[in-house]
Amino acid sequence: MNNWSGFYKKTRDERLNVIKEANILDNEHFNLLNNNKILDFETANNMVENVVGTFSLPFSVVPNFVVDKKSYLVPMVTEEPSVVAAASFAAKIIKRSGGFTTTVHNRQMIGQIALYDIPDVSSALHQIQEKKANLLELANQAYPSIVKRGGGACDLRTELLKGETDFLVVYLLVDTQEAMGANILNTMLEALKEQLELWTGGESLMAILSNYATEALVTASCEIDFRLLSRDKTEAEKIARKMVLASQFAKADPYRASTHNKGIFNGIDAVVLASGNDWRAIEAGAHTYAARSGSYQGLTSWTANWTNRKLQGQLTLPMPIATKGGSIGLNPTVAASFDLLNQPTAKELASLIVSVGLAQNFAALKALVSTGIQAGHMKLQAKSLALLAGAQEQEVPLLVSRLTAEKSFNLSLAQEILKDLRKKNQ
Ligand code: HMG
Repeated sequence: MNNWSGFYKKTRDERLNVIKEANILDNEHFNLLNNNKILDFETANNMVENVVGTFSLPFSVVPNFVVDKKSYLVPMVTEEPSVVAAASFAAKIIKRSGGFTTTVHNRQMIGQIALYDIPDVSSALHQIQEKKANLLELANQAYPSIVKRGGGACDLRTELLKGETDFLVVYLLVDTQEAMGANILNTMLEALKEQLELWTGGESLMAILSNYATEALVTASCEIDFRLLSRDKTEAEKIARKMVLASQFAKADPYRASTHNKGIFNGIDAVVLASGNDWRAIEAGAHTYAARSGSYQGLTSWTANWTNRKLQGQLTLPMPIATKGGSIGLNPTVAASFDLLNQPTAKELASLIVSVGLAQNFAALKALVSTGIQAGHMKLQAKSLALLAGAQEQEVPLLVSRLTAEKSFNLSLAQEILKDLRKKNQ
């Protein structure tokens, strides 16, 4: 990949030129991006109900993401200022430390059937385990195309949940290949329902996919040299120690954990949206995972190796992301996203997304424990004000540096300074 430094300072045309020169997009998708081609009404109308229009959000790209030695230009869709800047900042630093390494622990989706009013629970549990092979066969017969693609139902587990009403829960594990698999799972589960009722003598309450995808866990890790945290050695050490404390604080306090994890999802949601995936599913699974110990905790861990002077970050999440199915093939901008990412597999995309979450958390924590979050925000806000005040592209950098030199600033000050700058340039 070519040099992306200062990408954010370029005009849209210049940015597109950099992308063109990097030869990442084929002609069709480059033109699509160039012409800002978005979802048309007819397609939108076929995707959901009661459509009266389409709704746009900014589509950005973040260079310098190196994951498992592969370099990515990451598409991000977000409405929040400074998220893309923070991701770019983190990606650049982490690239200089060797990038992210990831482990995809497994990639199976889970669905469940809850049964109740079973006359003899221990005999029912025994029956289900004994007939496991038949049940898996039945599930696969209900969705043969996934079996043809090399996936299918692979395991079945049971659990008895005792309470006001006892539930016997049957969990089905399915290899959904490149799909997220909601339809596959739900079809299979509904096919098993009747048989299970027959064998157990109970009633089925529901049969549905679970978004708590504990069999689709992905871990992303990175190691950052202290020297990249600050040019000043003592300051770098102080930031490293404070980042370790920040991750401990987010494990100890649910108020902090919520914000800490929101920051992680600033990045994750933006990529999940750009890839046309179901971000509610990803969020639901991850927040449940954050509460797996019984208390809601921060999802990242930061530790410091004081001998080799490296800050080590780690994030593990359920990441049942898809590259096929759902609305992925329908939205033209999503097609451009996949092209920008060089058509990743579902495992590669999952690894990248968890890495983006870790990067986003790194940037937020570093800002929080050093300059504070407002400094970066103020810089970006100054840029928005400069544009609102009517500054031309070439006038923006000077106006921003004059504004941020002030203790506080607003639109009228931006207009005043702009007038002054123009007078001096006459
Ligand atoms: P900085 O040190 O002033 O950046 O940080 P810089 O000007 O030295 O630039 C360094 C690199 O950052 C650039 O490299 C870019 O890659 C990137 P270059 O291209 O020059 O070679 N960069 C930008 N990229 C795009 N647009 C920009 C831009 N500026 C720098 N305008 C920065 C400035 C904002 C990056 C930093 O202060 C930061 O990361 N802040 C954190 C911002 C953040 O996390 N925002 C999310 C919203 S706040 C929130 O919701 C989450 C939170 O509550 C979560 C939590 O509590 O944990 C914070």
